[in-house]
Amino acid sequence: MAWTAAKIPDLSGAVAVVTGANGGLGLEVARELARKGGHVVMAARDQAKAEAAVASIRDQVPGASLELQPLDLASQASAREAAKRILGGHGRIDILVNNAGLMGIPERRTEDGFEMQLAVNHLGHFTLTTLLLPALLASDGARVVSVTSTGRHAGRPLDPANPHLAGSYDPWGAYGQSKLANVHFALELDRRFRAAGTPARSIVVHPGFTNTDLQARSVRETGGGRSQRFFRAAVQRFGMTPAQGALPLLRAATDPGAVGGALYTPRWVNWGPPVRRPLLRRTRNRDAMTTLWQVSERETGTTFDVPPR
Ligand SMILES: NC(=O)c1ccc[n+]([C@@H]2O[C@H](COP(=O)([O-])OP(=O)(O)OC[C@H]3O[C@@H](n4cnc5c(N)ncnc54)[C@H](OP(=O)(O)O)[C@@H]3O)[C@@H](O)[C@H]2O)c1
Repeated sequence: MAWTAAKIPDLSGAVAVVTGANGGLGLEVARELARKGGHVVMAARDQAKAEAAVASIRDQVPGASLELQPLDLASQASAREAAKRILGGHGRIDILVNNAGLMGIPERRTEDGFEMQLAVNHLGHFTLTTLLLPALLASDGARVVSVTSTGRHAGRPLDPANPHLAGSYDPWGAYGQSKLANVHFALELDRRFRAAGTPARSIVVHPGFTNTDLQARSVRETGGGRSQRFFRAAVQRFGMTPAQGALPLLRAATDPGAVGGALYTPRWVNWGPPVRRPLLRRTRNRDAMTTLWQVSERETGTTFDVPPR
């Protein structure tokens, strides 16, 4: 039987943090977690959009327990401040969904000097997760969900000598690099959880081809780029709804049987109900995972350590 949102267990008492919760897939994830009684920390950049997102959840789930936290993943300082505020309010986090992302935009640098897609899609989440670790470890089996894409197949593992693609930038190559980084991060995080003997699980998901603002934003950001327009037209015609695309994220976050270090995707790659799928050997490359970790620690200045239980 297909996995649906109806299978999400009761989440009363659980605390969830969802990045990019003010639109697209993140909003749907926040809505369903709240519907099942979870307290949802909606970490978001655009605050007006975030308030509209809260209103849209409360329309359907009147008693929803929601909290807004400003978070700009393009800024390491903002990621640190958000983590500090969240930790100030919550000694325990049961679910962290690292969902926010950008795709196929022109070359841009963040205030930290990072390539924008790597910064938002991976490095901001690396810092957030690292700093939230004490609260994740306080949970009796936390989940950390990372969101990749089929775009990872177009990406190269991080090159420690040039992670920000200076002189070799391409919008899709950069997106692919960041989405492959999401896979390597999720797998290495799960390996570290297990090595430390913690019950926490790290899981990677691909939502499938879903009609959100992702493709439209890449058209806006490129001033109407050709490949970006192609994907926007295709997703408007053939994409799943955000509620459907959110299901792999929700399954990884809540299904008691979801497996740490595994990949969940729609059954037919970009369409269908969420199922577990094997990861290619290339994506499971241990050297690439180690390098990703070292480069992420070096660039962000955050050190990640899971103390043994
Ligand atoms: N839709 C698809 O077909 C598809 C396929 C594969 C993977 N994905 C992945 O799914 C994830 C969610 O994307 P979506 O489809 O829901 O797209 P979306 O509708 O464009 O949502 C993206 C979210 O990311 C947030 N975001 C962007 N830059 C940010 C920043 N600097 N700091 C904090 N938040 C930021 C946006 O918030 P603001 O509006 O406030 O910036 C928004 O909430 C992404 O990681 C994407 O790579 C999507």
